[in-house]
This record gives sequence, C-alpha cells and structure tokens, in this order.
Amino acid sequence: MKTVLMVQGSLRKESFNRQLMAAIQEALGSEVELKELSYEDLPLMNQDIEWPTPQPVQRVREEVKAADGLWVVSPQYNASYPGHVKNLIDWLSRPVAQGDSTTVAKSKKVTFSGIAGRTAAAEMREKLGSLLSFVGMDVMSAMGEGFVVNGSAWSDNVVVLDDVQKASIKAQAEQFLRFIEA
Ligand SMILES: Cc1cc2nc3c(=O)[nH]c(=O)nc-3n(C[C@H](O)[C@H](O)[C@H](O)COP(=O)(O)O)c2cc1C
Repeated sequence: MKTVLMVQGSLRKESFNRQLMAAIQEALGSEVELKELSYEDLPLMNQDIEWPTPQPVQRVREEVKAADGLWVVSPQYNASYPGHVKNLIDWLSRPVAQGDSTTVAKSKKVTFSGIAGRTAAAEMREKLGSLLSFVGMDVMSAMGEGFVVNGSAWSDNVVVLDDVQKASIKAQAEQFLRFIEA
C-alpha cells in the first residue's frame, strides 16, 4: 500500500486548511496509508547547527523519505506560504550527510492545495509550486488546487465545501494516486 504524507501549513486549531485536509484524506480513501507530518519542533534553519543533523530534522527527513508522496495543504500568508513551510522545505533541500549531495526532497512526488479568500490562495500556490520544483521535487501540477472558502467560515470557522469543490478534491486525489503509482 502506498503512503501519502500530509503536510499541514496552518498551525491554527480551527484552520480552514485543516478542514480541507480532512476532506482530502477522505477522498484519498483507504487505498493509501495516510500520515500527517509533525514538524512543529523543527529548529529554524541555521547552518551553524546543520551538523550533526538535529534530531527533529532527522525524524522529519526519515518520514519524508519513507513516503511515496507528499501532499501540502497550506494557507496563504501575505501572498505566499507561511514561513514555517519554507523552513521545512529548506531543511528537506539540504544534504542528508556531509559531503554527499543526496537530499530527501530530490524527485519526491508532491502535490498541494490551499483554501483562502477570493483569490483561492493563487499567489501562495504559484510560489509554493516554484519552491517545490526548485528543490527538485516531482511536482504533479504547477499550481496545485485552490479553493475559495464559504463566507460564513470567517465568523464560525466551519468550512462547507460545495459539490464542485468536492469533485475537484476527488479528481486531484485520483490523479495523485495515479501519479505516485507511476
Ligand atoms: C500573516 C497572515 C497573512 C495573511 N495573508 C493573506 C493573503 O495574502 N491573502 C488571503 O486571502 N488571506 C490572507 N490571510 C488570511 C488567511 O487566509 C486566513 O487567516 C485563513 O483563515 C488562514 O488559513 P487557516 O484557517 O487554514 O489557518 C492572512 C493571514 C495571516 C495570519
């Protein structure tokens, strides 16, 4: 069975993107083993502490290495992705051993989504797609998938996905399953 590692870009408890992630997990169904990456304990990138590899970095890299694919679900912060998402990708982009050019990011299959206001997180998605490609990941589609959140969620934090959005999630999930099988 294939393993998909979900990377949640929002740390907020009632996050719109956490609710989107739940819908994605449901769409992926029982055909894959799903895990969520825990990376809140990653230190901020600092080349002074790269060697020996900090334990949280080691653990995160092992989880990424073991997964057949990554699915990043992220909010848009100031027309981009949150800083902690960049910090994670920066750690994944660095060599696993000194004097070796191997990274866990290289050729890792990845897709991404985001839910936000009326831009459907387009600026975040454009920049995230570029970043993931830059570090050598195998990106399924350059812009991922974006969703406009229902207006009431801004006051009650309850995300309600309509049928078109649900169909789009299902289509992306099916495409990603084929992508990681290939
Ligand atoms: C630092 C910060 C910057 C934001 N910048 C944008 C933005 O550029 N565009 C946008 O549509 N929403 C922006 N938002 C609003 C977020 O989309 C909104 O807070 C959303 O609920 C965050 O996702 P989450 O619910 O998954 O945490 C920003 C929020 C924060 C905290």
